Amino acid sequence: MTNPDPATPDFLMLGTCDYPEHVPSDRWAPYARQQAELGLRFVRVAEFAWSRLEPRPGEFDWAWLDDAIAAYAAEGLRVVMCTPTPTPPAWLIRAHPEILAFDDQGRVREFGSRRHYDFASPVFREHSRRITRAVAERYGAHPAVVGWQTDNEFGCHGTSRSYGGASEAAFPGWLQARYGTLEALNEAWGNVFWSMEYTDWAQVKSPALTVTEPNPSHVLDYHRFASDLIASFQAEQVELLRELSPGRFVTHNFMIFESGFDHYDVARGLDFATWDNYPTGMLEFFAPPGVGEDLKTHYARTGHPDLVAFNHDVYRSLMLGKDGLGRDGAGTPNGFWVMEQQCGQVNWAPYNPLPAGGAVALWTAQAWAHGADVVSYFRWRAATMAQEVMHSGLLRHDETPDRGFAEVAGLDLTQFPVGPVPARVALLHDYESLWIFDQQRHAAGLSYWAQTVTYYMALRSLGVDVQITHPDVDLSGYAAVVAPAITLVPADRAARWEAAARGGVPFVFGPRTAFRTPGGAMWPDGQFGPLSGLTGARLLQYDSLRPGMTQGVTGAFGNVDASLWAESYRVTGAQTLATYAGGPLDGQSAVIRHGHATVIGAHSLDLIRGVLREVLGGAGVPLLDLPEGVRVSRRADRTLVQNWHPHAVTWGGLELGPVSSVVLGGDWTPTEGKGVQGEGVDGE
Ligand code: GAL
Repeated sequence: MTNPDPATPDFLMLGTCDYPEHVPSDRWAPYARQQAELGLRFVRVAEFAWSRLEPRPGEFDWAWLDDAIAAYAAEGLRVVMCTPTPTPPAWLIRAHPEILAFDDQGRVREFGSRRHYDFASPVFREHSRRITRAVAERYGAHPAVVGWQTDNEFGCHGTSRSYGGASEAAFPGWLQARYGTLEALNEAWGNVFWSMEYTDWAQVKSPALTVTEPNPSHVLDYHRFASDLIASFQAEQVELLRELSPGRFVTHNFMIFESGFDHYDVARGLDFATWDNYPTGMLEFFAPPGVGEDLKTHYARTGHPDLVAFNHDVYRSLMLGKDGLGRDGAGTPNGFWVMEQQCGQVNWAPYNPLPAGGAVALWTAQAWAHGADVVSYFRWRAATMAQEVMHSGLLRHDETPDRGFAEVAGLDLTQFPVGPVPARVALLHDYESLWIFDQQRHAAGLSYWAQTVTYYMALRSLGVDVQITHPDVDLSGYAAVVAPAITLVPADRAARWEAAARGGVPFVFGPRTAFRTPGGAMWPDGQFGPLSGLTGARLLQYDSLRPGMTQGVTGAFGNVDASLWAESYRVTGAQTLATYAGGPLDGQSAVIRHGHATVIGAHSLDLIRGVLREVLGGAGVPLLDLPEGVRVSRRADRTLVQNWHPHAVTWGGLELGPVSSVVLGGDWTPTEGKGVQGEGVDGE
């Protein structure tokens, strides 16, 4: 990959997202000067600028963007150009309304905001290629343009799938290519159930508007189909950018906990991943059940450390792909970027508190510690028009520097050298498992993300750096592997895991592991299907616990109360480490171990933490006992200790100010006391 800035390759670099089309042209030069003075190196532009770049069909207006880029270049700023396809202009949509997508209620998703297109639309594909070619021909070789972002946030606003029109028309062809015959399709989906068998490909539609829930196998394949469309849509753009803009990087800005497509597939062909980090909005939307209202209020001005960290870790290792080798075959994760970093309040959550003083600096430091090479703030100046006027920027509406600006100005980037994140523990993540898991949650509050993040939180509370990775990579080099919710386990995956475990790698599995076939059905011999040899057990019962219900667990990890989910096992070789106490599962196995494989059947953060502490300790992974809100992340032989509390804490021999972090040496360990002092939060 081309180094975007050979002048300063050694430390974290900063950037911003700017919108020259939103302000008078006399602001471009002073803004660029101010950006450079603030220490920013990159500016991302033009992802929503199609209507200004091509005001009428085939009539291009480059002059304004030429001038804006010249203003950035004059200050030494490097430009990340975008393909403007998230916002096809009105003239295109009214001429070709078939570009518009359909929601799952069969309604057209109209023009008037953004992302109003169907990835399958042949006419939109043609225009996507046309505008990509035009922009790339104009700017592909521009000396100030160092890279490209494709489109903007695939899947945002629930746009991964269209349930009618072009997508629905293309679905039978995709199925035919996958299954060959209708008999195979009917068999894979189990269509004999409720007489859902098809006798002609044309009979198959999208899984929407069914009387009751659609067949989960139908849904799973619609997700796969839609994901393939996004990957091929982007690949068409990437191919043109490679041809017309040699030596520049190509990336995409992925989203917080986005579920709409297989990110490993869509990332293939990019140089590195970027993502958009909005910690306060993330807390409102994605907190798992363990983060109750009290904690949400407590972290309202910072977001939750582990939710943010999880996303950093997903995107750091995304480029390793499904084979674990990465784009260059080297098997080490490329540095990622935070393409959009919240630097004030957002506008899209139910509540949008101002970030705490120190939050922007803390978010930036955390991004670095998890592997980011560039953090780019959204946005330069707060918008004075349209949908996002309530959203902050580095400058206020009136162009005065806002709170985030001052924090960025105060950063000492030499504290943040780039380099590897020393993660020896793998946490497995897979979008197909996510799709089928969430299609039939069976316990409404426990989604795939919630279950996965609970294991991640347990790891972070033990001070462990985590590599989040696809389940099919070579796992033999990891100190331990944690698979919280990989519910879809084909036979070849099971065989690879078994070989790694036989080689001595300890595995910890969560509930519903290997519950599903690749088609989304159940294994005829029940859970754990092809993984039964490794786990030495079979499923006995599963129980869905409504809020307020708990299930006791007792044994090697103390007495804990599980919530939401409890499953028990009939051991066929495994030993039982903990059993259920009380309720319908009384006396049955809750945590089992067979060789190097440990399975946790009950959902409880305390239980998960207890099991992980024991397994990782046994594997020689150094562990800490971190209090709530204090987190430790390591990179490039440095340790970042963070306090996410709104109050000061004393911990491990350190005085940590409210919402702050400190960079220490890579071999730093806490020197005294493991407890935390300071005001607590409820439940601490
Ligand atoms: C992102 C999006 C930006 C802006 C931002 C506001 O999801 O990419 O264009 O809308 O949210 O927080």
